[in-house]
Amino acid sequence: MKIGKKWYTSLALIVGMGLMLSACGSGGQQTAGSGEKVYVIGTDAAYPPFQMLEADKISGHDIDVMNAVAEAGGFKVEWKNTGWDPLFDGLDKGTVDIGISSITITDKRKEKYDFSEPYFEANQLILVAEDSPVQTLADLKGKKIGGQAATTGEEVVKKAFGETYEGWKGYDDMPSSVDDFFNGRVDAVVGDNGVLQYYVKKIEKKKFKLIKDDSFEKEFYGIMVKKGNTDALTKINDGLKKIKENGKLQEIHDKYFGNK
Ligand code: ARG
Repeated sequence: MKIGKKWYTSLALIVGMGLMLSACGSGGQQTAGSGEKVYVIGTDAAYPPFQMLEADKISGHDIDVMNAVAEAGGFKVEWKNTGWDPLFDGLDKGTVDIGISSITITDKRKEKYDFSEPYFEANQLILVAEDSPVQTLADLKGKKIGGQAATTGEEVVKKAFGETYEGWKGYDDMPSSVDDFFNGRVDAVVGDNGVLQYYVKKIEKKKFKLIKDDSFEKEFYGIMVKKGNTDALTKINDGLKKIKENGKLQEIHDKYFGNK
């Protein structure tokens, strides 16, 4: 019995190491059997309904968009669930070629990365309890506000209350901030409209409201590459243009958001 167990343990170790090795190998330099380049797409698959992980499979609006862009643009892709911060690191290091993750095109990000044409319009929203007296972002002053760290949600909160606002609680991923809100550990969450609307719809037991502050500007999601990667960017924009023209992008939008 003991020997058997050991044997299984070492087998598991070997398999595990093999998996790790192949994971490490899947850098930005993949080629298909034909020698054709396979672009590694990084995403943070915890952002429903844009990027989700269901039964170990990455799915969602952005996944459909990127796959359609690649098909129309004539290039191959391979998916990698990197998480949010590591997605940017991956692009810097070259282990990721392309990022799609509801990434808002901002001037600050444009210093280090290049973006495709926009594929989605969004804005920030504030999530509070339905009976909350909060009506604007300013009403949250002094309150605990959660959201995903290093996002445009964090930006609007810090713009309103200062870079070192102590009430801000930044999480590595969006679901953790929403969980903490539902458990009463933060008074509000600030984040992208599509995601917060998804959660409000999903959690039917309690009632919540979503508030749009006048200061929240229009945001546009773009597909991101390392600055200067014109090879990938040209192919992406070409594919994106095609799926905008043939109605595929709209079709994907309607699949997830209804034809509003
Ligand atoms: N649109 C926001 C931003 O770009 C949030 C995106 C977060 N995406 C994600 N997959 N967690 O900052």
